[in-house]
Amino acid sequence: MPRVLPEPVTHYLLELAKHDDPILNEMEALATEKNFPIVGPECGRVLHQVAVMTGAKRVFEMGSGYGYSTLWFARAMPADGRVFHTDGDPANTARAMEFLKRAGQDSKVAFKTGDAREVIERTPGEFDVIFIDIDKHQYPGAYELAKGRVRVGGAILIHNTLWSGKIADPSVTDKDTEGIREYMRRIWADKNFVSSFLPMHDGLGMSVRVR
Ligand SMILES: C[S@@+](CC[C@H](N)C(=O)[O-])C[C@H]1O[C@@H](n2cnc3c(N)ncnc32)[C@H](O)[C@@H]1O
Repeated sequence: MPRVLPEPVTHYLLELAKHDDPILNEMEALATEKNFPIVGPECGRVLHQVAVMTGAKRVFEMGSGYGYSTLWFARAMPADGRVFHTDGDPANTARAMEFLKRAGQDSKVAFKTGDAREVIERTPGEFDVIFIDIDKHQYPGAYELAKGRVRVGGAILIHNTLWSGKIADPSVTDKDTEGIREYMRRIWADKNFVSSFLPMHDGLGMSVRVR
């Protein structure tokens, strides 16, 4: 995953974000080996922080891969908290189950294989945090599904707001880049949310529901 901040700044941030969690370290090594797009430790910390700040007990992830972002959330949750892990690929779910079990956090996770957009529709109740990291052309649809499902004071987070910088290049008009742009237009115009984004890693969008 290309990082958009200048290399020395990224290096500084990564040094700050170093941790001694052996399972997260293993998952980071696997991402490097397989070139799998995890959020990385800088954004992982933010996910963890937002869960703490909102006192989250229910987190819904759309696009969890093999559970790296899930583990950052799960570690922030109380014993009776739930992170809904969703991924379309059963191999990712199986790997996530194994990692979360070895981390001693699997009792806080509901593992769901399938299209996250369908899973959220059939999962009742409100969420404290919804994290969107599915295919990028699906982001506007994910916004429509998520906006009424997060409680007031809760947050919707999205990964890849910068999309390797393509987001700011008007000559790039592929469906994934357009999907992220359209998501941002919709949620930034939505008076029920206050939105911002952090330019670390590949960009992390953050919207707090205010009404
Ligand atoms: C960027 S990766 C997720 C990384 C994960 N959030 C992390 O940081 O560890 C995106 C994942 O979403 C899954 N995916 C894409 N579209 C999906 C959809 N509509 N429903 C469920 N999973 C989806 C892919 O299989 C892939 O594993």
